[in-house]
Amino acid sequence: MAQAHIIKTKVGIVGGGPAGLMLSHLLAKQGIDNLVVESRDHETIRNTHRAGILEAGSVQMLTDTGVDGRVLTDGDEHAGIDLRFNGESHPLDFKDLVDATVTLYAQNEVFVDLAAARKRDGGDVRYEAEVTEVLDLETTTPKFRFTDKDGTAFEVHCDILVGADGSRSFCRRAVKGEQDYKIEYPFAWFGILTEAPKSAPELIYANSPHGFALISQRSETVQRMYFQCDPSENVDDWSEDRIWTELQKRVDGADGFQLKQGPIFDKTVLAFRSFVREPLSHGRMFLAGDAGHTVPPTGAKGLNLAFADVKVLFEAIDSFYATGSDALLEGYSDLALQRVWKAQNFSYWMTSMLHTRTDASPFETKRALGELATVTGSRFGQQYLAESYTGWPHK
Ligand code: PHB
Repeated sequence: MAQAHIIKTKVGIVGGGPAGLMLSHLLAKQGIDNLVVESRDHETIRNTHRAGILEAGSVQMLTDTGVDGRVLTDGDEHAGIDLRFNGESHPLDFKDLVDATVTLYAQNEVFVDLAAARKRDGGDVRYEAEVTEVLDLETTTPKFRFTDKDGTAFEVHCDILVGADGSRSFCRRAVKGEQDYKIEYPFAWFGILTEAPKSAPELIYANSPHGFALISQRSETVQRMYFQCDPSENVDDWSEDRIWTELQKRVDGADGFQLKQGPIFDKTVLAFRSFVREPLSHGRMFLAGDAGHTVPPTGAKGLNLAFADVKVLFEAIDSFYATGSDALLEGYSDLALQRVWKAQNFSYWMTSMLHTRTDASPFETKRALGELATVTGSRFGQQYLAESYTGWPHK
């Protein structure tokens, strides 16, 4: 085998999704040399549909650091959501409850903006590059090997290695014997994109005897909707008619609410789980975003949590180069995990309160309705949800 080409950099980042690119962007702005290696190509990531809600802190990370102002012009600020159960709407006004809003801006747009910013600023981002090995993590020169799309082998020598390589993280799986906390759910989401006008001004999170549905949006003419389904569901078994009937059933009510329908141009079944790796570091390797933890999508915390990790990690790396002390790097995992577990709790809570388990007893089904009535029935209950949904302050 030919000798691998050696690349020396300060921070080696595995994973070029939003977390890896945002970290690379922040480091570059601070003059800290870094390299990003990503297994997928730009188009594939750009066309991967994920959630679309940004907390104010995430929007600020995009705008304050000069990524792009597009999130402000193309993003849609939302001051609340609608919790629908027993066929009735219960609007929550975040602005009034906790003086905060969120912005609907699809994750793939965040990726496009970050990738453009890295390109504009001369960042070194290698797409279609497969990491094959991470090594020497417990030394001061961690390394990783990767092969580019032409089959050329490289070995990256760095001071700090970051695994931002998503939920199936190669970096995470390379370290054995750590604690993984996880739960699986007996359901998935069936997601569609449709060319239709908005059905309602705010996002609707609906609990119904037929299961959960989320009526989200993308623009004036494109909408995103999901309904709870079996994880083994096959999208080809679902005609447009069948999908619309299923979605409508889940939002039906005495108020006669009707979804606005249109042609469906994307159908996907999205499996999910709750997962946390502890600690989020191993020697000089640090995990960020989905590589270290994943949440179910109810409440859209995934990207926000990834950005929160990146903020803490960036500050730790910056301090390491400014002072020579690795105290903040050593504190990274504990600090990031504080927010991670809050978001795990929130995402789990929203998921279990809104979904219907096929094996649920009638008691359990009624109890969940009691919980929804408790949350919507008092200002305290509403504030609890609103505070978590819009995001806790960044430390
Ligand atoms: C989305 O628009 O894709 C979305 C919005 C809110 C969620 C999850 C997904 O909680």
